[in-house]
Amino acid sequence: EPALRVPEWADILDWWPELTASSEKYNRGVVGVATGSATYPGAAVLSVAGALAGPTGLVRYAGGAKAEVLHHHPSVIATERVADAGRVQAWVCGSGLGSGDDASAALRTVLAAPVPVVLDADGLSLLADDSGPDRLRDRDAPTVVTPHDREFRRLAGEPPGADRVAAAHRLAARLNVVVLLKGDRTVVATPDGRAYANPTGTPALATGGTGDVLSGLLGSLLAAGLAPERAAVAAAYLHGLAGRTAARRGPVTAPDVAAALADVVPSAVPSA
Ligand code: APR
Ligand code: MG
Repeated sequence: EPALRVPEWADILDWWPELTASSEKYNRGVVGVATGSATYPGAAVLSVAGALAGPTGLVRYAGGAKAEVLHHHPSVIATERVADAGRVQAWVCGSGLGSGDDASAALRTVLAAPVPVVLDADGLSLLADDSGPDRLRDRDAPTVVTPHDREFRRLAGEPPGADRVAAAHRLAARLNVVVLLKGDRTVVATPDGRAYANPTGTPALATGGTGDVLSGLLGSLLAAGLAPERAAVAAAYLHGLAGRTAARRGPVTAPDVAAALADVVPSAVPSA
């Protein structure tokens, strides 16, 4: 049973990349977002919003919701196919992809890239159906999976049960991935037995689409160079703070959480 750590604000500050005089958009990191589809364009818009709130300098989008993404986020560079997206330092893949051939192709291309990957939602379901999650073991670059309970059950073949930390750790060790198991106290577990419980969660986040915002933010942190476990812990922490901030303003929807990230992420500018 891994020892459970609770991250603090000082940890997030410590890990956050600072801007310097030599910062430019490419060396801040480029994150690729392969989410959404013609059927589920909102998942793309929300995951891109999460990615834009992070420390990276550029967001690339690849998928079937190009027009909607550009409408809401004109700073994004968008293509339809992952293979045409250009270089990125991390991929976010899964939410709103659906289950068609385009979805499988996107997942396959993303998993073949030699960069860190966040897998969420339909990406996890496709993987569970397709050739099985054990193929994640073959990746050389890090993978972070972000299941809620039903997604966890499909991936692991068993529900998380009462001991969520032990369950997350078992899956992390089996697949050699970092597991971010969502819930009221989101758990992050590593293959080698470290585990964290997020202290900032709020039930105000229990509304459709907030998970998409989380996976986008996490991808930005990976592309900015944070180690996968720190990226996962920091993303959950800041997402929770954003949920609390949004809840003080009124009823919370996922776009409100994405907007509130701007109020809670550490300033990248030293003593700004
Ligand atoms: N307390 C704290 N946090 C919570 C709670 C709670 N009681 N309930 C949910 N959350 C947080 C989770 O930790 C997670 O960060 O809200 C987020 C929800 O993410 P998901 O479960 O991935 O939900 P999301 O994908 O945003 O919305 C569900 O996906 O399953 C499809 O079609 C379905 O539209 C639906 C959408
Ligand atoms: Mg989800």
